[in-house]
Amino acid sequence: MHALIINGSPRVKKYSNTDKILLKITAGMEESGATYEQYEVSDRSQWPKIRERFYLCDHILIALPLYVECIPGLLIEFLETLDAERKAAALENSAKRPVMSFLLQSGFAEGVQLRCGEAYLEMLADRLGCEYGGTLVKGDNFSIRLFEGEQREKITGAYQAMGKIYGRDGAFRDEACRKFTGPEVFPLPVRLLVGTIFKTLAKKGFKDKAKEWGCTRPLDDKPYLQ
Ligand SMILES: Cc1cc2nc3c(=O)[nH]c(=O)nc-3n(C[C@H](O)[C@H](O)[C@H](O)COP(=O)(O)O)c2cc1C
Repeated sequence: MHALIINGSPRVKKYSNTDKILLKITAGMEESGATYEQYEVSDRSQWPKIRERFYLCDHILIALPLYVECIPGLLIEFLETLDAERKAAALENSAKRPVMSFLLQSGFAEGVQLRCGEAYLEMLADRLGCEYGGTLVKGDNFSIRLFEGEQREKITGAYQAMGKIYGRDGAFRDEACRKFTGPEVFPLPVRLLVGTIFKTLAKKGFKDKAKEWGCTRPLDDKPYLQ
């Protein structure tokens, strides 16, 4: 199995958490004997090459972070440059549609906040003329790029086993991939504690920072309602 891997983060490779996760995914893929080529949408000079390979590869993995509960705008901009009909034409003589899988990761840990994005990605695969190969969904990744060595390994290490499965199956359909997400929602006491911290300490921190940066409007301003 050979996969075209696209890092959909707008952050440059050096600072991208998605990139650090992909290091583990690809190590796992190699354990399964799979090969890959990886590109970054953050580097626009790579876009023509990604497009060229998109029309030819039959396994595509798009790895992306959740940005403001959604798909990063730069990735959408890139995807809009793809031509699903051309993909279909390129594969006219092939018996199978290419398989498009996703790795959707985020800062906050609860799986539930990623489900809307996951539903969108399932539709996207079909719209791009591909068969949907599933989405590996996981949060709790805010700090990856801030750590190195053992501390980083603690957060990213488990992705290697998922990469091994992806290299074996060319998809994330295995039950182990579904379980990988962890908790859908935190238990009630944790939610209450986090909610209280956000309404007090964190809110004050955001307000102070906004003031420091010269912001004169309230942070919950709704100018478009007027
Ligand atoms: C502009 C921006 C918006 C974000 N929005 C969310 C969000 O809505 N939910 C969440 O859980 N994490 C959010 N995050 C955190 C990222 O998903 C997380 O840090 C991710 O690992 C970043 O991957 P990257 O470094 O490859 O871009 C956001 C980060 C940024 C910079």
